[in-house]
Amino acid sequence: INSEQPYRTWYHFQPLKNWMNDPNGPMYYKGVYHLFYQYNPDAATFGHEKMVWGHSISNDLINWTHLNDAIVPTIPGDINSCWSGSATILPGEKPAMLYTGIDQNRHQVQNLAMPKNLSDPYLREWEKHPQNPLMTPPSGVEVGEFRDPSTAWQGKDGKWRVIIGAQNGDEGKIILYKSEDFVKWIVDPIPFFATDDTGVCECPDFFPVYINNTNGVDTTMENSSVRHVLKISYLRRRHDYYFIGKYVSDKEEFVPDVKYTGTWKELRFDYGKVYASKSFFDHAKNRRILWAWAEESDTSEDDIQKGWAGLQTIPRKFWLDKNGKQLMQWPIEELEKLRGKQINITGETLQSGSTLEVKGITASQADVEVLFELPNLQSAELLEPSEVDPQELCKEQYASRNGMIGPFGLQALASKDQTERTTISFRIYRAGDGFKCLMISDQTRSSLREDVEKTSYATIFDIDPNLKTISLRSLIDRSIIESFGDGGRACITSRAYPLFATDKDAHLFVFNDGSQSVVISQLNAWSMKQAQFGTESII
Ligand code: FRU
Repeated sequence: INSEQPYRTWYHFQPLKNWMNDPNGPMYYKGVYHLFYQYNPDAATFGHEKMVWGHSISNDLINWTHLNDAIVPTIPGDINSCWSGSATILPGEKPAMLYTGIDQNRHQVQNLAMPKNLSDPYLREWEKHPQNPLMTPPSGVEVGEFRDPSTAWQGKDGKWRVIIGAQNGDEGKIILYKSEDFVKWIVDPIPFFATDDTGVCECPDFFPVYINNTNGVDTTMENSSVRHVLKISYLRRRHDYYFIGKYVSDKEEFVPDVKYTGTWKELRFDYGKVYASKSFFDHAKNRRILWAWAEESDTSEDDIQKGWAGLQTIPRKFWLDKNGKQLMQWPIEELEKLRGKQINITGETLQSGSTLEVKGITASQADVEVLFELPNLQSAELLEPSEVDPQELCKEQYASRNGMIGPFGLQALASKDQTERTTISFRIYRAGDGFKCLMISDQTRSSLREDVEKTSYATIFDIDPNLKTISLRSLIDRSIIESFGDGGRACITSRAYPLFATDKDAHLFVFNDGSQSVVISQLNAWSMKQAQFGTESII
């Protein structure tokens, strides 16, 4: 099976077959984690006629049992598809799913579904509310661009609030609705948030984060111990952007600290191949967790051949950075249960131009953490102009210039001779009166196959002038690499489809192409075991 399916993952969430996109309604309910997802039960391509909610459950967010599809088209309000939505746990421990239906006129409307039997620990069956649809496109919103209800929260007045993504021409909108009983919803005529020239806002997510605390917090919380985050997936850019700001429920107002600029400077959850993410509060472990869809970048013909398309990233715990200006993310600790054989390297100098193979682990399925010791930052090359779109820095005119400090990093899913490799690197610049680190995931040589998309991804972030070390963690899993720079300050996910560097022929290297040496202060790499993905055997 492995050699027939070199790209099928070992520990990233996937259904047994067919197409998957957005995570839907993630929640923790009475000791069980639930993940629902956009699913086409009939093919490995997006189902324009019939998308449903797939459903899987887990005790640890890593090993999963696939159940029957939970929400499928049955009523006029969703007869042409059940699209994305979110879970809210109502008083009395009652989960409620708001989701988008494509109705009989192909308009987008919002529906409610609730578990049929709350004593079933897996909540296998879902019942649709007789009054569906509960929301139809309001004025100023296109009927075909009104979707993806968020998790609801309660304002100080006790009323429920939910936001929906929308569009009106080029304007992207986030629409707010309020309700006393979760059934009768009233639209707020003023958009909660709007952006010019963006087109539709998809999968909005809105939640508080603690100041000075990495714990998560329930969606209803409004006081001076928290800030609020609004996340929007902009379809035209295919990235998930977020805004940190101040929320005042009695004014229905969210004011971001930094205004939307429409440039590369917008904060993103992931600077690579990640879209339509959704968070939930895990009260079992007091953390907020992010799920996200990692799309394929091979061709649709390849997907049909493979019989599947789409992955979910490893759930990430995230929190507000001490500086209050960005979120930090880290793979959930449960993933470490899959760590097997470990290799350790300490205090090894990487001279300019050197490459070191990390031997002895399964390089096609691995978890790698490296701490690099940096030379004196004063020797870094100057970045001119000091503010450049990091995506530009991947291009020839910059990338071919010899670096002083970096690029250094990892070559993952590499062939023995390194002709195939995905390179995850850091490069340090002097810029203005401070220092910046450019992080790149370079896919240009990720496969000798010509028909796959190989876009490289990059981000740049400020670093402390006294910084002595920088860390890189990569989760490598056959056709996906999730990389976390500087303890989760910058995340880049990429997909790779090597022709030769698969299974036992995949290798892992550490390298340094900068003219200054860097030291591997500490490297730990683990072979990763396969997670369990089973179906329920009903006796
Ligand atoms: C985002 C999205 C959502 C929609 C769903 C349909 O990827 O387009 O806006 O609800 O996917 O599958």
